[in-house]
Amino acid sequence: MKSNTPIYDFLSDYAKKNAVRAHMPGHKGQSPFDRCGVSKYDITEIEGADVLYSSHGIIRESEELSASLFGAGRTLYSTEGSSLSIRAMLYLLSLYAQRFGKERIIAAGRNAHISFVNSCALLDFDVKWLYPESSQSVISCKITPEELDAFLLNMKEKPCAVYITSPDYLGNIADIEGLSRVCKKHSVLLLVDNAHGAYLAFLEGSPHPIRQGCDMCCDSAHKTLPALTGGAYLHISRDAPKMFAENAERAMALFASTSPSYLILASLDLLRANINSEYYKKLSDFTIKLEGLKQFVSGIGLKLVGNEKLKLTLSPKSFGYTGTELAKALSLQNVFCEFADPDFVVLMFSPENSDADLFKVKVAFENLERRAEILTAPPALPRPKSVMSMKEALFSNSHEIPTSDALGEVLASAEISCPPAVSLAVAGEVIDNEVLNSMEYYGIKKCRVVIK
Ligand SMILES: Cc1ncc(COP(=O)(O)O)c(C=O)c1O
Repeated sequence: MKSNTPIYDFLSDYAKKNAVRAHMPGHKGQSPFDRCGVSKYDITEIEGADVLYSSHGIIRESEELSASLFGAGRTLYSTEGSSLSIRAMLYLLSLYAQRFGKERIIAAGRNAHISFVNSCALLDFDVKWLYPESSQSVISCKITPEELDAFLLNMKEKPCAVYITSPDYLGNIADIEGLSRVCKKHSVLLLVDNAHGAYLAFLEGSPHPIRQGCDMCCDSAHKTLPALTGGAYLHISRDAPKMFAENAERAMALFASTSPSYLILASLDLLRANINSEYYKKLSDFTIKLEGLKQFVSGIGLKLVGNEKLKLTLSPKSFGYTGTELAKALSLQNVFCEFADPDFVVLMFSPENSDADLFKVKVAFENLERRAEILTAPPALPRPKSVMSMKEALFSNSHEIPTSDALGEVLASAEISCPPAVSLAVAGEVIDNEVLNSMEYYGIKKCRVVIK
């Protein structure tokens, strides 16, 4: 019978063998500094351990089990986060454009993560940005199917793909099914940055993008599932062009380290084997408990944002706190948030949080003193003009200057507020007053610009 955890089993058997490790890594499975007791499982690609991105053994077996769990045609593991999967997706898209004689144009929601922006610059994609009708923040970019349809109809030259970030960092989920229908109508592919949504596959109805019609997506398992940091997937749909699965390993290998972490691979292997009816119930029960906490928080007057089931996002100015102040007030009560900026606080939970955790968070909110409303609003989403390609700007001679001197200059690298690593402006765009206002608002003091 085939093993259900092929990677973990191999590591565990090897650890028991007491073998002479005449191979990397240098700690030989018994690092004198290993206080966590993990080095015995930390190996390199020795015989029998398979080769990530040239897989035919235990890694491929585990990936295939994951593909069927998520409902993908092909799933590849990443030990370098969704960032690696995003670079690979875009490389695959560029092969697709080449093969079918399409322009290297991609239409993307403006809240794309920096790894998308940098990959587009490196691969020389022409990005046509999709802006939302209205937005609370650069982090959100709500695009409806109707808006996408109108956008694509108006494009002189059709993109080869649409790229959507869903869920976004604030916890907004896009209508991927509807967006996918529009993409099909226009014969363009749909790629989704689902870094925050791996767990969606295990909610009732499985609202994961790979089941909702996207062609490829990335998931950071480590963000919402019990995986080690760095553990992620590239999923390719069963209906996607065959060349994606055929070239996927070399696409990942192009950008990846040749020394993948087996600890991370084993964590992906083990988590998959433990997604069973018990886990589904645990997740479902947890979302109900978290909903209860959200209602409580809303009841004391804090404004909730987003519709994601594992995030508690607040817009706390009406309660008298900036996001950063609220995160600080919570940290003083031993509750540490995922993200805070002047307008929002994001708390990320998972079923691995205990009832006691949720209770502590409730008490921390209860202890907050309501203050006078803060009336300042975030600046409007900048829409700077692009005057050179992202690639040209990224590879140009550049220097760093104070943002106070940057009006009219051309950005040489994306300017981000960090986290969530969403760009206020990208390479090749001119820094106008709106961009400057945003940089000032988010505390960005320096930027890299093209030397003219
Ligand atoms: C929306 C989004 N996409 C992609 C990434 C990159 O994911 P990873 O950290 O797994 O490389 C992040 C990271 O925070 C993200 O927020």
